[in-house]
Amino acid sequence: SVLEMEVEQIKKGNYDHFMQKEIHEQPHSLTTTMRGRLKDNSVVLGGLKDHLKTIRHSRRIIFIGCGTSYNAALAARPFLEELSGIPVTMELASDLLDRQGPIYREDTAVFVSQSGETADTLLALEYALGNGALCVGVTNTVGSTLARRTHCGVHINAGCEIGVASTKAYTSQIVVMAMMALAIGADKISTQPRREAIINGLSDLPKNVAEVLKLDGEMRDLAKSLIDTQSLLVFGRGYNYATALEGALKVKEVALMHSEGMLAGEMKHGPLALVDETLPIIVIATHDACFSKQQSVIQQLHARKGRLIVMCSEGDATSVCPMGSCRVIEVPQVADCLQPVINIIPMQLLAYHLTVLRGYDVDQPRNLAKSVTTE
Ligand code: G6P
Repeated sequence: SVLEMEVEQIKKGNYDHFMQKEIHEQPHSLTTTMRGRLKDNSVVLGGLKDHLKTIRHSRRIIFIGCGTSYNAALAARPFLEELSGIPVTMELASDLLDRQGPIYREDTAVFVSQSGETADTLLALEYALGNGALCVGVTNTVGSTLARRTHCGVHINAGCEIGVASTKAYTSQIVVMAMMALAIGADKISTQPRREAIINGLSDLPKNVAEVLKLDGEMRDLAKSLIDTQSLLVFGRGYNYATALEGALKVKEVALMHSEGMLAGEMKHGPLALVDETLPIIVIATHDACFSKQQSVIQQLHARKGRLIVMCSEGDATSVCPMGSCRVIEVPQVADCLQPVINIIPMQLLAYHLTVLRGYDVDQPRNLAKSVTTE
């Protein structure tokens, strides 16, 4: 009805689409996610504090989710492993169910779901409960089935997300899982300086997110240059393996363009065969411990005349692209484990602009639903 349409427009404010609004809202949504949880060099997560001991003693932490929520967990995995010293494994909920994979009483299973109502994730939760694991929920929806059925958990408090393609929930999920890692690792003296640096990085994150959002126009120009391509590859590794998967997921979900995120370490085991002058390839090469490996990936792609778009830290343009032959996206550098929060934003903007330019429905992509409540 006309009234419903007017209400929609009011909710969108000055934006054309909910996805656009939600992308630009991220400095604010991240602030609400952290509100009251960072206290003088420590992290306080009310919903988790009585269970931290059990989690620290678990034999394994298993992340379980679907789609973007799975990718958010993948982004947090290296940091959680580092700070907890506990093996962290990843499960797509449907695959865990298909295999009926082993889960034990000594495991902590962390279920990640924006809606808290995804059928596969909830079925995996019942399965893990049945096997006696400690079940932790990470969700954006207070009172959701996930929030009610888990033993404990953390709300991401990102605010209602309407666009089918998840954006602000993704960055808030990463931040919540980074805070979880800080809380779980808080008993270790040896990592205290590292933890303090990350906590400072968290406080500065909204400011840096506002900074990277200024790339909007640049991403629109990049989208224009990619509007007619058949396919787009995204290479990442380490903290930004998840960025590659999630960036490609955004592009395929909303822009309806074939896109694959790939682990750069696997490049020689197949993907390299696809490289030619026409296929655009985004390489995530922001500054961290994997930087020199990514530089060598760029050289190898360059030697095969790949059509390169490199995402790097501010000031690194000439060292990632000495021959000046690739397009460069420079982003602010933050603490290594928080960099995925920054790096996904140009990808979200790119997917958004590609969709608008290609004339597709941004907020309700063909064939997709915000919440998949059937198996
Ligand atoms: C659907 C949505 C995705 C979402 C996924 C998991 O596929 O379209 O945007 O990432 O479900 O949803 P959840 O609510 O469990 O995070």
